[in-house]
Amino acid sequence: MKIFLLGFMGSGKSTLGRELAQRTGYRFIDLDRSIEINYGMNIPELFKLKGESEFRAIEREQLMNELKADNFVMALGGGTPCFFDNIDRINQEGVSIYLDYSSEFLAGRLGSFSGDRPLLKGKTGPELVQFIRSLLTERLPYYEKANIKVQGNGKSIQEMTEDILRQIGKK
Ligand code: S3P
Repeated sequence: MKIFLLGFMGSGKSTLGRELAQRTGYRFIDLDRSIEINYGMNIPELFKLKGESEFRAIEREQLMNELKADNFVMALGGGTPCFFDNIDRINQEGVSIYLDYSSEFLAGRLGSFSGDRPLLKGKTGPELVQFIRSLLTERLPYYEKANIKVQGNGKSIQEMTEDILRQIGKK
């Protein structure tokens, strides 16, 4: 089984992914971390060096490589499902889960953790909220293609994990 977690930056894909991997016994793959290891630099450095469109090509290639494995839980990058036909390939390969948070909730979380995210660089306060709102609206059609949608606002990782395990028939 291949389980994919998707959602906006700050939706806790990696934290939840690790938890799900532990509960299912599957391997955890963090797509951003795989890219960083492969290229020997972190995502902000890679963005700066290559630019966004080259980054998206690199991200696509890394995704295709990781798809060859099986029995994993993968945390995607926030933009991964929204480029090329990535979301369709993901849905062909396994079960995709969208972690659904409101832009207000995400802004609250990202306000203090936006430093290591190139797309959010330098944005704070109302500008950050507005940016998240508009990018989330743009990305929703892709996120909504996920097989399963899990509400996140105000829920604990534990509650979300149980919800997902039930929905994928692992409980
Ligand atoms: C991005 C999200 C990031 C990372 C890159 C671009 C995006 O991953 O892939 O900075 O376009 O939303 P996280 O969602 O893990 O922050």
